[in-house]
Amino acid sequence: MEIFDDLEALSHAAAALFVTEAKRAVEVSGRFTVVLAGGSTPRRTYELLAEPPLREQVEWASVHIYWGDERCVPPDDPHSNEHMARQALLDRVPIPSDHIHPFSCHSDAAKAATDYEDALREAFTGGTPRFDLIYLGLGEDGHTASLIPGDPALDEHERWTAAVESKDPGRVTLTYAVLNQGSIVAFLVSGANKGDALRQVLDDSNPTNSLPAARVRPVNGILRYLVDTSAASKLAERK
Ligand code: 6PG
Repeated sequence: MEIFDDLEALSHAAAALFVTEAKRAVEVSGRFTVVLAGGSTPRRTYELLAEPPLREQVEWASVHIYWGDERCVPPDDPHSNEHMARQALLDRVPIPSDHIHPFSCHSDAAKAATDYEDALREAFTGGTPRFDLIYLGLGEDGHTASLIPGDPALDEHERWTAAVESKDPGRVTLTYAVLNQGSIVAFLVSGANKGDALRQVLDDSNPTNSLPAARVRPVNGILRYLVDTSAASKLAERK
């Protein structure tokens, strides 16, 4: 776990990770596949990538953008994760439009989930997608992407995507089947309100009641927590 003074410092580190991994992936495989997190925490990271000096350090023509989850709202809805990422980053960098793969869930979560899995199967012909970098956020209740406590999607280990009906509007999410195949999975966690959830996620002494975010355990990948001091404020209380 890496603790940063504040969200700005955390965002600089998260953006630098993107640049480093993009260079490595493009050298190795000719492309960089990344899963963006939604919510508000990653916005500053995305903005930094769209501005000098980092903007010029990424070979955007080789980058392929996916999302960890999406709310079933129109793409121009302020609650849309796609909308946030386009405003903060994608509309500001020379990435080919067909390299951007939104969930496009306007109303039917189940259809959006199926369609996204079909698109993943086309792009990753060798089996379960192994993304080069997966950004994830952490909810106060310990959810990540749209893997929400108590939702049946938590138990989906075959399909790569799932519809989440326990939220209104509905959501679609990548499942652990994909998240746990990531080469690098980086949680970005900021704010004192995430302190309790972060402490529980990191405290794997009681695996039976692990929060959804605690069940993200990359099989052959690297798990990183980039947190700020506010979010880490409860860690000293770990028993
Ligand atoms: C979403 C996100 C979700 C988010 C957390 C943290 O669609 O809401 O994917 O998992 O990462 O809820 O959100 P904040 O960054 O806004 O605190």
